[in-house]
Amino acid sequence: MTSEPTAGVLIVGGGQAAVQLAISLRHLGADEPITILSEEQRPPYQRPPLSKAYLLGAVNSESLEFRSEEFYARERIAVRTEHRVLDVRLPADGEPGVATCDNGTTLEFSRLALATGSRPRRLTVPGAELDGVCYLRDLADATELKERMQDAERVLVVGGGFIGLEAAAVARSRGKDVTVVEASDRLVGRVVSPLVSDFYREAHERRGTRLLLGASIERIEGRAGRVAAAHLDGGERVAIELIVVGIGVEPRVELARQLGLEVDNGIVVDEFARTSDPRVVAVGDCAATPHPSADGLVRLESVGHAVDHAKCAAAALTGAPVSYDAVPWFWSDQDTLKLQIAGLSGGFDQTVLRGDPGEERFSVFYFRDQRLIAVNSINSPRDYMAVRRALTTGHRITPEAAADADNPLRPAPADL
Ligand code: APR
Repeated sequence: MTSEPTAGVLIVGGGQAAVQLAISLRHLGADEPITILSEEQRPPYQRPPLSKAYLLGAVNSESLEFRSEEFYARERIAVRTEHRVLDVRLPADGEPGVATCDNGTTLEFSRLALATGSRPRRLTVPGAELDGVCYLRDLADATELKERMQDAERVLVVGGGFIGLEAAAVARSRGKDVTVVEASDRLVGRVVSPLVSDFYREAHERRGTRLLLGASIERIEGRAGRVAAAHLDGGERVAIELIVVGIGVEPRVELARQLGLEVDNGIVVDEFARTSDPRVVAVGDCAATPHPSADGLVRLESVGHAVDHAKCAAAALTGAPVSYDAVPWFWSDQDTLKLQIAGLSGGFDQTVLRGDPGEERFSVFYFRDQRLIAVNSINSPRDYMAVRRALTTGHRITPEAAADADNPLRPAPADL
C-alpha cells in the first residue's frame, strides 16, 4: 500500500464538474496541489455525445476528451484514472483528510470536492441480469451499446426520458426496429409540459418508433443467457435482441454519508456549493442545491449545471464565495430534433406556444404569475437564446410578446 502526502484539493470524480472545478481553481489563482481521482479508464471526457453522435458512430472517443495530457501537466492538475475512492476520512482535529482507493493508494488532502455524479437506476425485473440488457452512462457503456446495436435488429428501450429517446432515435437512424416502453402516461414527463410530451410522441412515431405509454416490463425472457423477448404488463411478448434501459439516475452519495454530511436526494450544499462540513464542497449531479428559481433544494442533471456549479465551488474554495444563480440550460438531440431548454419550469401556471409543432419548429414559454421562468425550444435556437438572455439580464418577455411570432423578443435598449 502506498501513502502519498498531497494536501491541497482532492476532487473525487472524473466528469464535467470535476474538470471544471480544477480549471476554475487555477483561473482563480489557487496554487496548491489539485488531484482528480476518477474510477474510469480514460481521462475526463464529454458525456452528452455518448447517447447521440458517438452512439451513431459520427464521432470517435478521442474527440470527446476535454483536455490533453499536456494541458493538465501545464496546469499542475494531477489526473489519476482507475482510482475508485472507497473510503474517505476527515479528522476533526485539523489533521489532513485521507482517501483510500480500490487499488490500495491512499492520498492526503486538506480540502475535498465531491463530484461523484450519479448512476443509472437499475431495472429489477426477472431477467434483468441477462446479456443484452444495457445502460448508458459512461464511455464503456456507450461503446458496448454501439457494438451490440450493430448486431441487433430489434431494440427495446425502457424509459421515455432523455436517454431513452436519444437512444431510440439513434437506433431508428441505424435502421433498427424500435419499441419504447414508458411507465408514465407521457414522454420526458420529469422536465417538459404535456404539449411537448405529445409532440415527442408524434415525432418519434413519424420516424417509425413504436411507443408504449403507461406500460412496463414484467420479465425478460432469455435464450442461452441472452435477451430474447420482453413480456409486458398487458401480456404482450416483444421479441428483441437488445434492451436499453434509461429509467433515471440516482446521485452517488456514499462518500458523503461516510463523512456524515447531510444528504437529501443528493449531497446538501448551500448557495456557495459548500456541504455541511466547511472543508468539503459538492458539485454537479450529486449535489442538492438552493437556486433562486426553485422552491427548496434542486438536484440538476446537466452539463450546464456541472460547469456553473463547479465555478461557484471554486470561488468558495478560494475564499471569495459567489452565490449560485446561473440560469439552468440543457439540450437533447433526437434525430433532427434539437431541444434546448433554459430556466426551470417547475411551478408554471401558464404556457405560450410560439411556432408550429407540425413543422417540428416551435417553442413553449413557461410563465408563473405572468413572469417568464423557462422555455423549451425545438429547432428554434433564437427563441432559446432570447429567453436565456432575458432570464440572465432580467429583461421582461410578456406572454403576449412570446405569442407574437413577429416580435423578435430582443430587449429594448433601455433594458440593456
Ligand atoms: N419502466 C418504464 N419507464 C420507466 C421506469 C420503468 N420501470 N422507471 C422510470 N421510467 C421512466 C420515467 O417515467 C421517465 O420518463 O423513465 C424515464 C426516465 O427519464 P429521465 O428521468 O429523464 O432519466 P434518463 O432518461 O435515464 O436520463 C438520465 O441522463 O442525459 C442525462 O439529463 C439526463 O439526467 C438525465 C440522465
